[in-house]
Amino acid sequence: MDAGISIAELTVEQTPEVAALCRRALDLPEDAAEAGPLVATLWPRAAADRTVRVLGAHREEELVGVLISSLSAADGRVGHVDLLAVEPRLRRRGVGRALLGHAERALADLGAGEVLLAGNPPHYAWPGIDVRYTPAVCLALALGYRQDRTAWNMTADLSDDGSPALRSTEVAEARLAGQAVTVRRAEPADLPALAAFAQATFGGTWDAELAGSLGRPDAGCHLAERHGEVLGFAAYGSSRPSWFGPMGTAPAAEGSGIGGVLLRRCLRDQRAAGVEAAQIGWVGPIPFYSGSAGARIERVFFLYRKPLRTTETADSQ
Ligand SMILES: CC(C)(COP(=O)(O)OP(=O)(O)OC[C@H]1O[C@@H](n2cnc3c(N)ncnc32)[C@H](O)[C@@H]1OP(=O)(O)O)[C@@H](O)C(=O)NCCC(=O)NCCS
Repeated sequence: MDAGISIAELTVEQTPEVAALCRRALDLPEDAAEAGPLVATLWPRAAADRTVRVLGAHREEELVGVLISSLSAADGRVGHVDLLAVEPRLRRRGVGRALLGHAERALADLGAGEVLLAGNPPHYAWPGIDVRYTPAVCLALALGYRQDRTAWNMTADLSDDGSPALRSTEVAEARLAGQAVTVRRAEPADLPALAAFAQATFGGTWDAELAGSLGRPDAGCHLAERHGEVLGFAAYGSSRPSWFGPMGTAPAAEGSGIGGVLLRRCLRDQRAAGVEAAQIGWVGPIPFYSGSAGARIERVFFLYRKPLRTTETADSQ
């Protein structure tokens, strides 16, 4: 690494500086445009419920590189690198390598036995490395990471009224009303019931993502219920304003059209907020999103992992 560059832990007061660097250094315009919410999702919001470490590379007084890392809330032996960005004019001088090396050591010191270059739900910026961040893929390979999964987002076009994503939900809602199913916008008071439904039906961290969608600006949630019992939900904006998800329908209600209605209600909100292309994040059922909103697979992510040599393993050798 260039002489004159030093690496140190950053404090949460430096969030605006980190966001400003990400606006310059995230080469994909859709990420640069949402750098502020994206950094706020990973830190400080994430720091409320898991260990987050943020490293900065400085040259003289200037912040020229940043790495956000965290421990998995579910399994403290797993570390994540959530974001890495280096000032464009200072690339290929070893800053990225040095930040990642420091982060690996810091995560090992916290007890992690491996590091994932992959999203750490419920607070994540991306599922993994977008393949178009090719230098980041090269860096991962150079540092011995192994690709173990692939993930993708789907894009729903909200740029014009004729898009299938903005198709009316009126007829479908009238049909559901005939089956005593009500569809409505969720309020903060609905959170306990929604979180309990998500946890009991799907497990994982969707309950926490719902907490990030309800009652927050640039975010929201719609639900379906029958006689007060939740049958499904769809949410958006938890990680960033243009991202949709999670959503889930009770298995017994699948096929009733609830999912398509909830999805398009959220997309309509996002369009009203000025979003022209919604990202359906880290997707499962491709045919559902393709059929319900004309969504297409667009962003593709490689997920990487690497075992760490922990203090414990080093001592025992
Ligand atoms: C990815 C990124 C952080 C790399 O930072 P960097 O400081 O330029 O990386 P380094 O100089 O430490 O590179 C270390 C190694 O990674 C590999 N590498 C990095 N950039 C590369 C490129 N453009 N092409 C090929 N290999 C590359 C090389 O093996 C390099 O070692 P070498 O220079 O000795 O050959 C930087 O390109 C960046 O900020 N990109 C935009 C944001 C991003 O992609 N973030 C990842 C998503 S979270």
